[in-house]
Amino acid sequence: MSVAKPLPHDTAHLHVTGAARYVDDIPSPTGTLHLAFGTSPVARGEITSIDLEKARNASGVIAVFTAADLPFENDVSPSNHDEPLLAEGTVHYIGQPVFLVVATSHIAARAAARLGDIQITAQTPILTIDQAPILTIDQALAANSRFEEGPRIYAKGDVQTALTHATLRLDGQLEIGGQEHFYLEGQAALALPGEDGDMLIHSSTQHPTEIQHKVAEAIGLPMHAVRVETRRMGGGFGGKESQGNALAVACAISARATGRPCKMRYDRDDDMIITGKRHDFRIEYAVGFEADGRLTALDFTHYARCGWAMDLSLPVADRAMLHADNAYHLTDVRITSHRLKTNTQSATAYRGFGGPQGIVGIERVMDHVAKHLGLDPLDVRRANFYRDSLNADAPDMQTTPYQQPVKDCIINALTERLIESANYKSRRAEIAEWNTQQPILKRGIALTPVKFGISFTLTHLNQAGALVHVYQDGSIHLNHGGTEMGQGLFQKIAQVAASEFGVPMAQIKITATDTAKVPNTSATAASSGTDLNGMAVLNACETIRSRMSDHLAEAFCCPPEAVTFSDGQVTAGDKTLTFAEAAQLSYQARVSLSATGFYKTPDIKWDRIKGVGQPFFYFAYGAAITEVVIDTLTGENRILRADILHDAGQSLNPALDVGQIEGGYVQGAGWLTTEELVWDDKGALKTHAPATYKIPACSDRPDVFNVTLWDQPNPAHTIYRSKAVGEPPFMLGISAWSALADAVASCGSGYADLQTPATAEAVLAAITRTCGPQG
Ligand code: MTE
Ligand code: MOS
Repeated sequence: MSVAKPLPHDTAHLHVTGAARYVDDIPSPTGTLHLAFGTSPVARGEITSIDLEKARNASGVIAVFTAADLPFENDVSPSNHDEPLLAEGTVHYIGQPVFLVVATSHIAARAAARLGDIQITAQTPILTIDQAPILTIDQALAANSRFEEGPRIYAKGDVQTALTHATLRLDGQLEIGGQEHFYLEGQAALALPGEDGDMLIHSSTQHPTEIQHKVAEAIGLPMHAVRVETRRMGGGFGGKESQGNALAVACAISARATGRPCKMRYDRDDDMIITGKRHDFRIEYAVGFEADGRLTALDFTHYARCGWAMDLSLPVADRAMLHADNAYHLTDVRITSHRLKTNTQSATAYRGFGGPQGIVGIERVMDHVAKHLGLDPLDVRRANFYRDSLNADAPDMQTTPYQQPVKDCIINALTERLIESANYKSRRAEIAEWNTQQPILKRGIALTPVKFGISFTLTHLNQAGALVHVYQDGSIHLNHGGTEMGQGLFQKIAQVAASEFGVPMAQIKITATDTAKVPNTSATAASSGTDLNGMAVLNACETIRSRMSDHLAEAFCCPPEAVTFSDGQVTAGDKTLTFAEAAQLSYQARVSLSATGFYKTPDIKWDRIKGVGQPFFYFAYGAAITEVVIDTLTGENRILRADILHDAGQSLNPALDVGQIEGGYVQGAGWLTTEELVWDDKGALKTHAPATYKIPACSDRPDVFNVTLWDQPNPAHTIYRSKAVGEPPFMLGISAWSALADAVASCGSGYADLQTPATAEAVLAAITRTCGPQG
């Protein structure tokens, strides 16, 4: 069996030698043209004139387009038809594409893109209230600028009454910063015009079908005229679910207009200025609780800053609400969510898809309650966990705030095991002692859990297709709807196929994702790539295998069940063949060796308006303990150690899963610590390069980093009983932030009001608030 083996990523050798091809590495035909956007210098206003003479006359420029030149749809929105490729009349943020330059080189296109003279009303110095850009959550609330009429509310029990009768009550508020995806490969697309209007697009996208759809609309042809291919991305992290649409559409319309191949890639600064990021949030809470830390009432208000276009903001904000409970059972709870429209980049999907923001909210509540009561935050967390239960028929099943029974909970057992293996108790005591003796440096420790719901909340997206060919030499070619972005999806799925046919991995090839091979695919997102596509591939493999079995059974006079596939061999009765011989025999007998496969997730239903149902097929669990040290004079800090126990079910590939956990944790910790996005008061993003935006470096990973996989299979019937692992570990990084708050609190008596991101400056400010000025 190839499943469950810790095999390396299938193209790791290409990644590390620089031989892996990304869109920009595809040799482009002679005559390929290059594109760049001219963008809005103003966050909000009406375009009064655009003078593009200079840009048109610049060296190497072939064409310059504005919205008026677009022949069909001018829209690249994934949801709401509110996102023109090129601005029409109104501009909505600094960086919004206004015109498109087509030139003979990348440099020429970029240089000419700076030569447009765009006149916008808001450039006049005095602005009225309805001309001023809406940049912040407060400004959006004041202007009632939103995407849905009023707030969305999900509730269970009666939070008002419960708060009124609560033994103790606390109120608080937390600002949560956004996050730049910082995929190493920037957004890119290449369009190759074919005959009769056909278009082949290479795109760095998590969602080839949507690229196909948007390109077809933009060039006025049916989807069958457009083929989209994606071999791999150099990271997507949600940033390539919808944000690649603009580049692919720009390339397609330019290729259509010029008849020449067209390529576009964003330079890093452009990528950061133009594309959407994680939603920043404000979360307010009122919590009622008992003296032992048990919560009796919880009222959350979420404010999501969505940017200028709707994009995926509604489902992102929904998922934040659906994770407001994290791993905690709440009886009387209400979550109110405001989706605010601002003149900033359109916030988009980012690993966890709103879940992380929701979870940070309740983890803050746990810390706040614990420090108020003088308890170990871990004890408050444990007092509120959902009960472990693997008995799906238990009558007293606890339910989430959206009334889904939690029938696979393991968080108590998992946490206990992690506490043991990481020596939490003795280390906490040792740290407390150390802190009393150290005047300057302080250490902190925290455990945070994660429970993450697996499935797209838009139920119809939970489907996938596959196409499998067995060739007459016994080699196997497979395709599925998922895309590879470094997470190892292709390798895991190849392992599934190899196991089904009992052949070595070398016999399997997965080729680029291609809308002509597998149609109508969902984005590779919501961590469900392996769950969905793995099952679809399994389905196709089973079809071919059973056709081969039927034939071989007849040929060698045994029942079809007596035909087995393993170790590269096929045994039929007393006859043993190599897989290649079996394929050859089947071919000669005119057995079809090609099949499609399909899968749809069972048992899910969800009413997002009422907020009631079973949006998730199952939950993935995990917990992390992080220890940090801070310098109370400067706020500088380090992660000293992280211990993680994470549930990937029966892992399909422990090496890849541990990689996802390590990467997710570090990315989550980066979000909450060093990664800070700053806009000025005109709405210009000031942190648009690695010089000003600090992602974790290799040296920022914990000095001691112990990652272990939970060892139980998924009780839900998933591919080989594995669990999705792409996003859940991101939220383990919350323990780093909680540990920082613990360290800050240790220098005073109260609770550390640490906002996110907890940069060194924010840590220092929290120290001053909590403990008074040093010295
Ligand atoms: N891992 C790597 N190396 N690169 C990525 O871009 N994206 C994450 C996660 N892990 C990502 C990654 C996100 S946002 C998701 S939704 C999942 O991978 C998508 O892949 P999967 O469904 O196959 O897990
Ligand atoms: Mo991941 S945010 O669902 O692409």
